[in-house]
Amino acid sequence: MESPKQFDFLVLGSGLAGLFYALEASKAGTVAILTKGRAQESNTLHAQGGVACVASATDTFDLHVQDTLVSGSGLCKEEVVRGIIEDGPDRIRDLARLGVRFTTRPGEERELWDLGKEGGHSRRRIFHVDDATGKEIEQVLLQAVCLNPRIQVFERYQAVDLITLGKLGYSAENRCMGCYALDRTSGRVEVFCAHHTLLATGGCGKVYLYTTNPDVATGDGVAMAFRAGVPIANMEFIQFHPTCLYHPQAKSFLISEALRGEGALLLNQAGQRFLSGVDPRAELAPRDIVARAIDAEIKRSGHPCVYLDIRRKGKEYLQGRFPTIYSACLRCGIDMAADLIPVVPAAHYQCGGVVTDIDGRTELPGLWASGEVACTGLHGANRLASNSLLEAVVVSYRAARASVAAGPLSRKISIPPWDEGSAADPDELVVVAHNWREVRELMWDYVGIVRTRKRLRRAGMRLQNLAREIREYYWSYRLNADLIDLRNLVLVASLIVDSALERPESRGLHYILDFPKLDDSHPPSDTILRRSEVSIDE
Ligand code: FAD
Ligand code: SIN
Repeated sequence: MESPKQFDFLVLGSGLAGLFYALEASKAGTVAILTKGRAQESNTLHAQGGVACVASATDTFDLHVQDTLVSGSGLCKEEVVRGIIEDGPDRIRDLARLGVRFTTRPGEERELWDLGKEGGHSRRRIFHVDDATGKEIEQVLLQAVCLNPRIQVFERYQAVDLITLGKLGYSAENRCMGCYALDRTSGRVEVFCAHHTLLATGGCGKVYLYTTNPDVATGDGVAMAFRAGVPIANMEFIQFHPTCLYHPQAKSFLISEALRGEGALLLNQAGQRFLSGVDPRAELAPRDIVARAIDAEIKRSGHPCVYLDIRRKGKEYLQGRFPTIYSACLRCGIDMAADLIPVVPAAHYQCGGVVTDIDGRTELPGLWASGEVACTGLHGANRLASNSLLEAVVVSYRAARASVAAGPLSRKISIPPWDEGSAADPDELVVVAHNWREVRELMWDYVGIVRTRKRLRRAGMRLQNLAREIREYYWSYRLNADLIDLRNLVLVASLIVDSALERPESRGLHYILDFPKLDDSHPPSDTILRRSEVSIDE
């Protein structure tokens, strides 16, 4: 039996949130980073547009705050919005110092940042590295982490559940002590202990059949926190990105909103613009509006997609500004300079998550959360484009400082090893594959861009049956990665459905035909779910 691995700080996830926290925390102690796939696989790696941050002479913090509040439709926490936005310039400088080469353009006296524009932003303020911002950030941070002798990265280690004093039977105080993690290579479950644990496991796009997210995005952090009794907020607000490439050869490939920022138009199959009649900001309206308009257009026309038209910018410009997207389209036989780009909406971002303050502090002492897994109050009911990388870097920095300041645990607690019981090797993996498909199809068909109570209730009932079946399977067989993913996926899907049912109004990303309007008869509030208060049985 492996003895527990002990570190000062334990980080679950190796995207921007996890890596940045690790680098900062390592100044005060040892750090373990657990990541369920290869270290670079993450939503961060795929980010295209960039990081929103005030930098130009015509922009102000107030304007960025205002744009964020408008997009968030009454649910943002203004003090958190302001704090994160005002910390932005310092963290951009940190990223640049670490080696991130944000794109610049020649100015009269010196090079200037080439700031991009995206939907809902009233000014140009998107720091980007061409159209592959996330790749550059991920690679630069990973390199820094690998060179840091105080940080150890455990690839193919999947956190299964958090270890808490409460679960260990200490009734007087509860606290996170670390986690159990499956070594996906050996199949063994190991114990990782730490004074402070950061959840940086990203989002849950894989809950839906069509998503821009990579396979690792199965909502593990939200599921683990929920099982540990930590409150989860606003899971009904799932952001659908309006423009994912629609092509049989392209799996989940995003066509960045930055294209629309640079003048791309959205056309229907008849070649007509359809957004100008929907919102005065047309193609640059916030994402919920654009995605719903596309969904309606697809349903109205019966045509499977709509089209982006950026042909007039010409080949030279497009190859220079959007090299990744240009070549990805070309591989599918689409020349952006000559052809229309077929696009559809796809699940993209989880606005809700584990409830934290601006320092990433959760309700459970010793547990912190940052990045897409967390709900700080920045995004409210709809995230403004490129605000998530900003949030991840700012909150991780603050969380690292706050956990260092909180100091180590004063006493030693012995943690029991993972109890495998009499679990046998799974012999019917087809059940897992089938249920995985069923959840994702169900969520796409019943809990998508436009919802109804009837469909939500149906989805809820089906998910309860699936959860029962998976629970039986989970406790009867030895753990494997697919089973852990599926267990989390079903739980997170149920949290989305339950949250959606708890909101009898349409607000931001949550659009429900039974209540098509925003309810302004009382102040808006978050939807908070915690284990002890809901019917989801785990
Ligand atoms: P991630 O980067 O997703 O990292 C999560 C990590 O956790 C991964 O390493 C994963 O393997 C690991 N993990 C998950 N579960 C476990 C587990 N159980 N055990 C161990 N490890 C685990 N936002 C912007 O602001 N600007 C953009 O331009 C932008 N473009 C985007 C484009 C695409 C295609 C996508 C998908 C998202 C985009 N976003 C963008 C959103 C943004 O990329 C993410 O919200 C952000 O990168 C999240 O960072 P993170 O560190 O929280 O999570
Ligand atoms: C994009 O490039 O369109 C994605 C930006 C984001 O999700 O913030």
